[in-house]
Amino acid sequence: MEVIHTIEGLRSTVSGLKADKRSRNQTDTVGFVPTMGYLHEGHMSLMEKARVQCGIVVLSIFVNPLQFGPNEDLASYPRDEQRDLKIAEQMKVDVVFMPNAQEMYPQKIRTTVSVSELTERLCGASRPDHFDGVATVVMKLFHIVNPDRVYFGLKDAQQVAVIQQMIYDLNMNIELIACPILREADGLAMSSRNVYLSDEERKQALVLSQALQNAEREVTDQTDISIAQLHEQVRSDIQSSDLAKVDYIEILSYPSLEIIDSSTFIQDALSRNSMIIALAVKFGKTRLIDNLILAQHS
Ligand code: PAF
Repeated sequence: MEVIHTIEGLRSTVSGLKADKRSRNQTDTVGFVPTMGYLHEGHMSLMEKARVQCGIVVLSIFVNPLQFGPNEDLASYPRDEQRDLKIAEQMKVDVVFMPNAQEMYPQKIRTTVSVSELTERLCGASRPDHFDGVATVVMKLFHIVNPDRVYFGLKDAQQVAVIQQMIYDLNMNIELIACPILREADGLAMSSRNVYLSDEERKQALVLSQALQNAEREVTDQTDISIAQLHEQVRSDIQSSDLAKVDYIEILSYPSLEIIDSSTFIQDALSRNSMIIALAVKFGKTRLIDNLILAQHS
């Protein structure tokens, strides 16, 4: 496994690996897993899928300052490079790209990528500029790595929708593979930020996955329940935790993230569109997100 810190080094390593694969008549497709490090099993599932589907697997680890707001956790974002590299090696990644901020942003950036509408609600409403920062760094990474397939986790379902839209709008020849949320044994969605939680916060944070499970049961039981009623049920499940401070609970169409009239019955809405129940809730200083995507009935 090669660990590369410069853009030029990454480009020449990937083109060398591609030439080598071609000379052996092997597939030279590049699978790319962009991350901010502090890898967990969710990231490992992305690397695993990339390894199965592609000839060359590139992982990036870069805590992107552009996507953090002024009062967010950029400085304290968890980092453990040595552990990350061991995990990458174990997952049979070919190349790890670990640039520093100077390498990625050597001068003031004057060009940014902005995806409209999809970024206005959910995390976009409470974290202004976050998705411009994400789309810009992801676009830069795509230009640097030049991947055929890219792997993103659905825990950040809004991010998946935004990047998919960017790929489509800008005619990028890249296939986005959206991978399911990985959960701890007790249901908590895996996240690098879970390490911030105190024992009590960790215990109470289970209300998120439990609320989503209850909602799923309600929907699969085909109950005649409206968006407003389901919303209320999820809110009251979450508010059974006295530590939970709700940032948002929203039920929207997915991936278009449009508002659905709250009097619509869930089954009617699902006959037209897939939907997402998306949550962002703070426990102490830690803001957690989770979601459930309800597939459209055909
Ligand atoms: O999902 C993340 O870890 C980040 O938003 C990403 C896609 C690596 C961009 O910095």
